[in-house]
Formats: sequence, C-alpha cells, structure tokens
Amino acid sequence: MSITKDFFGKTAAGTAVERFTITNQNNMRVSLITYGASIQRIFVPDKTGTLRDVTVGFDDLEGFENRSDYQGAIAGPYANRISEGAFVIDGTTYPLVKNEDGVKTLHSGGEYTHTVWQGKESGDNAVTFSYTRPDGLNGYPGAIAAEITYTLTEGNELVLSYRCVSDKKTYINPTNHTYFNLGGFDSGDILSHKLTIHASRFTPVNEASIPSGELREVAGTPFDFRQQKPIGQDIEHPCEQLQNTGGYDHNFCIDGWNKQLREAAVAVCEETGISLVVSTDLPGIQFYAGNFLKGIIGKSGLPMNRRCGFCLETQYYPDTPHQPSFPSCLFDAGEEYRSQTVFAFRF
Ligand code: GLA
Repeated sequence: MSITKDFFGKTAAGTAVERFTITNQNNMRVSLITYGASIQRIFVPDKTGTLRDVTVGFDDLEGFENRSDYQGAIAGPYANRISEGAFVIDGTTYPLVKNEDGVKTLHSGGEYTHTVWQGKESGDNAVTFSYTRPDGLNGYPGAIAAEITYTLTEGNELVLSYRCVSDKKTYINPTNHTYFNLGGFDSGDILSHKLTIHASRFTPVNEASIPSGELREVAGTPFDFRQQKPIGQDIEHPCEQLQNTGGYDHNFCIDGWNKQLREAAVAVCEETGISLVVSTDLPGIQFYAGNFLKGIIGKSGLPMNRRCGFCLETQYYPDTPHQPSFPSCLFDAGEEYRSQTVFAFRF
C-alpha cells in the first residue's frame, strides 16, 4: 500500500487542489482530489492485466469546475432532489436554492461538489476530506462538520465512510456521484453491462423526478433488477416511469435495510471481466444511467456521450423532507450522521 500526493490544479479563485493516489498490491489505483472530495480515477486491471480507468470524468481541474455533472464528486449536504424549493423543520421554513428548472433543489445546488475540501492521508491506505459549511449557506440550515474517508483495501474495496455533525437540527444525506464504466471510460456506452439491484421496490417519480411517496413493486416492470440483466434490455420501454426520466434515474429501496452494511447492487462488464459490488448501510440507491450526458469533453479529450457511465448513488430516499413515510434523515443538533458505502471491485 502506498499514497502519493501531487498538485492537481488551481481553481479560478486561486485555491490549490491536491490529488492523492492510493495503490494496493493488486495494482488497483485510486486518485482522489480535494475539489468536491471527488474520485478522479480508479484503475483496475482487466482480465488481460491491462489497467483500465473505470470512472468517467476529467483529467483536469477546469473540467471539474466548469463542465461537471457531478462526476466523481460528493453531493450534499442533501444529495438528490428536494421539491418546492424549501422545507420546514420545527415550524421554521428554510427556502433553498432552486438550481433545477428554477423550482427545485438538486444535490444542494452543487455545494459539496464545488467546494475545495481539506485532504489528509491517514496511514498508507486512506485519505480523509473535511469541510465545515457555514450555517444558512444557500438557505440550508446547520453548520455541518463533514468528514469523508476513502480507504482502499488489499481486498480491492474502496470504502467510503461518512461522518457529519451539525450545530442545528437539519437533514443530512450526502452521496458519491461517480459515473462508472467497467469497460473503461473510453469504451462507449454502458448498456451491455449486467446489473443486479437487491430491491423489490422503488420510488416512482413525476415528470420533475420528484417521488410521489409510493413504494412500488418492481415485479413485472422494467425496474426489476433482482435477477441480473443488461442495463440496456428494458431502458427504452415506453412506460411512464422511464419516459418521465429519459431512462433509469430512480431510487431503489434496498431489501432488508437494517442500518448494517449489506450488498445493494452488482454491475458486471463481461468484456473486461471487471465487476463492481456496491454495499451500503443506507436505505436507498439511485441508479442513474447517465441519460443526461450529452457530449461534454472529458478524459483524453473524449466526449462523455449519453449513457457512457452509470451511477449507483447510495442515499436516503429523494425528497425525504416532504415524505414523512420515508426513512428519516433529520438529525438533531450534535447528533452524529454516520454511514458507509463500499465499492468492491472483482477482476
Ligand atoms: C442524479 C440525478 C440525475 C441527474 C444527475 C446529474 O443522478 O438523479 O437526475 O441530475 O444526478 O446529472
């Protein structure tokens, strides 16, 4: 195990951004940058031993700053959507930034994603990023002290450990928004990847991608990934749910959620022999098929075309502040939010 550190770039505002690269004995190599506490690349050996970067994103800081669609980044303090541009806590209404269609909030307006975090190595296989937001930024309550530790193991797992504490009662729901392509970032679309999601139910949404509150059975729908199937098999099915979002972009309710780490999803690329197993202690996982990607220039100057990467964003369900029946992610002042997500690679 080893960690090296290099200079990744300077933001337009002049802040230096560092990159940490952790390497294990099996030649897996993960690079993390302080901008957005982001995963910048993950090299995994394929079945011929050739290293493939299985994350779609950017080689340069300018991409993360100006062209980002959350590639590799942490989204938060509340990932995913909040409707109505506001929420209420104990009778106080907090108006939020409405960065999607001028009516709703997506990924907290990019707050965590576009922040330069403090980065620090812990030992020879982990990096911790920290950031304390000011109370009220973008209307969002709570000076939340957030810490995200990425640990690479000799078992080829990248472990993401989140710890947040707010000085005020607030919603806390960060995620990592890496776009994966297990064929390599430059290998085209992800439609032939085979996916399993251990979820019997998902949260259907309206045309604005806001959940109705219903937990719908996946059985008999294109959302049934309980047996592995190619991502592309049903993605063009003309059902209302896939029309609403232009392809998969839904929260799945992980079966048997009990706040302990459990396997939530498995993606397999047969061409390279690389698989990804996602485990989490959170109740939901957003499977987003990269439907909105439309050719922005990414690594090696190549365009990130529609569906050239997929995201498996572990989370509390979207719009939880407006859905009292969803598992709650409202934390008291001083109450610790802790969660873990593991991206385990098999090759
Ligand atoms: C999440 C959302 C998608 C999209 C992406 C960023 O995955 O669910 O709808 O907004 O982020 O483009």
